[in-house]
Amino acid sequence: MRVLGIESSCDETGLALYDTERGLLAHALHSQVALHAEYGGVVPELASRDHIRRLVSLLRQVLKESASTLAEVDAVAYTQGPGLAGALLVGSAFAEGLAASLGKPTLPVHHLEGHLLSPLLAQEPPEFPFVALLVSGGHTQLMAVAGVGQYELLGETLDDAAGEAFDKTAKLLGLGYPGGPALSQLAATGRPGVFDLPRPMLHSGDFNFSFAGLKTAVLTLVRNKAENRAENRPDFQADFQADVARAFQDALVEVLVKKSLAALKHTGMQRLVVAGGVGANRQLRQALNEAAAKRRCRVYYPELEFCTDNGAMIAFAGAMRLMAGALAKPAGGFAVRPRWPLNDLMGA
Ligand code: KG4
Ligand code: ZN
Repeated sequence: MRVLGIESSCDETGLALYDTERGLLAHALHSQVALHAEYGGVVPELASRDHIRRLVSLLRQVLKESASTLAEVDAVAYTQGPGLAGALLVGSAFAEGLAASLGKPTLPVHHLEGHLLSPLLAQEPPEFPFVALLVSGGHTQLMAVAGVGQYELLGETLDDAAGEAFDKTAKLLGLGYPGGPALSQLAATGRPGVFDLPRPMLHSGDFNFSFAGLKTAVLTLVRNKAENRAENRPDFQADFQADVARAFQDALVEVLVKKSLAALKHTGMQRLVVAGGVGANRQLRQALNEAAAKRRCRVYYPELEFCTDNGAMIAFAGAMRLMAGALAKPAGGFAVRPRWPLNDLMGA
């Protein structure tokens, strides 16, 4: 069976074709980073319009690369939510319209389920069950995953998501948007221990997170420095930024690692799956790998290109649902779900 996947929940338009026997046949992506950069963040209306502009050419690209025709598509999977309402509407309307014109059914997919299952697209996929650490721009969650559609929420962030904390902190340091990759690059040149930032909820005894205070602590450092003019030499400025970036990343990584390991212990599971944009962070990967190895556990990641939003994970999640016995729905009516807790999928 061949599933076409369409992702348009935020600032990436992604399309892909997944074959349940042959695997991923092709995928194509357009990132809107350059479009939103001058505004310092995603502008929803611009995002929606750009998705409209890109969908048809990306579909053609996927069909060409996979040497397939639309007639060979058996079902169309698309991101129904959560995400930006307008952006979701564009992808959903396109998917439903396309499927209706082909007389094929559709599979509305939860964006986070796409992220969650994306490590299964890797060369050495993990087996079920596993603990999933989902760290994206909009979400930070720890989940116990027993199988496709069987997700138990263990804990989540009470305020900012990990990626959001990266982006906001990067903005405070004058780095561009999205700030995560830039901040992590800068942190690699920073010295550990120069600044000591809080580890929010490290000892809370549950699996919840809170990252808003971390960003505020960075803001305080930046303000204090601005008031201390004697230290505003250019060389000091560069060191300051790198050292703060390092302190921020050290704090955030320590909390994520400690809670993930506690979740493994709590569930008795030995596999940890990391998904979402922040899963691309090198320091996080290294720290998780080391901590897990000490407990004889193993950490699995998606291929780097599938850490951030993409169509492959949506096509794959749709295909997994079909293979798990879910029914695709007839094309036609649809509703987007900008807010949609993953827990709602239990038993769906
Ligand atoms: O999963 P994703 O593409 O989008 C959402 O569904 O939210 O994640 C994007 C987030 C952004 O906040 C971005 O700054 C962050 O992932 N990110 C990173 C890195 N690469 C992307 N954060 C830290 N280190 C990275 N290397
Ligand atoms: Zn995402």
